[in-house]
Amino acid sequence: MDTEDRKRLAGIEACNWVKDGMSLGLGTGSTVSHTVLEIGRMISEGSISVVGVPTSLATRELALRVGIPLVTLSEVGAIDLVIDGTDEFDPEFSLIKGGGGALTREKIVAQSSKAMIVVADDRKRVDVLGKFHLPVEVLQFEWEATRGLLSALCPGAVKIRGGERPFVTDNGGYILDCDFGETITDPKSLELEILSIAGVVEVGLFCDMCDAVVLAGEGNVETIVKEGGRLS
Ligand code: A5P
Repeated sequence: MDTEDRKRLAGIEACNWVKDGMSLGLGTGSTVSHTVLEIGRMISEGSISVVGVPTSLATRELALRVGIPLVTLSEVGAIDLVIDGTDEFDPEFSLIKGGGGALTREKIVAQSSKAMIVVADDRKRVDVLGKFHLPVEVLQFEWEATRGLLSALCPGAVKIRGGERPFVTDNGGYILDCDFGETITDPKSLELEILSIAGVVEVGLFCDMCDAVVLAGEGNVETIVKEGGRLS
């Protein structure tokens, strides 16, 4: 089974948690796009009626294409469940997200959700976060100065995504990818430290948000539910 098959398996399996009448946060990325497609299929065959809040313009477009009715957070208040992808998750269910550059909207939706499920293939499971470069969204204004302050915290390189032609997020920001290496043993403290820098819009560390991971490995898929989490 190749990586794409694993992504599909995890993305579709997560739909077992979707119930009729729910408001859903719709994550961003190649794994959760399978979830969005499956939800669209379930709606079209009449088995559920749900509404979605997308976490990026790309997901918005995909959701509309497959017939998922969209709403805003202010219209629904709280979201019943958000399903999203991840770049890494550790044993505490802390995450690094933002490989697709959507971390700010993803975190806004996750923090207003009653529960969060992450869909992933087994490459994403780590003991210590940081091998995947930590994405930080920053304002374009004086971004080099913001990078300087981030570099003081980060043991490795801090690179602007896209290089000479920077990647621009849905919010008009830039992404700085920070090479911490496998050193992030206290993600909550690091999250607060990074957020204290003016110019930082959001950091791709998601702590105390994820309640379960639907994880696809070689030929099988398992759901790991966090003990004491909102889905246990
Ligand atoms: C988007 O900004 C990210 O947080 C994605 O959810 C994450 O990068 C996982 O994406 P894939 O499922 O494409 O690996």
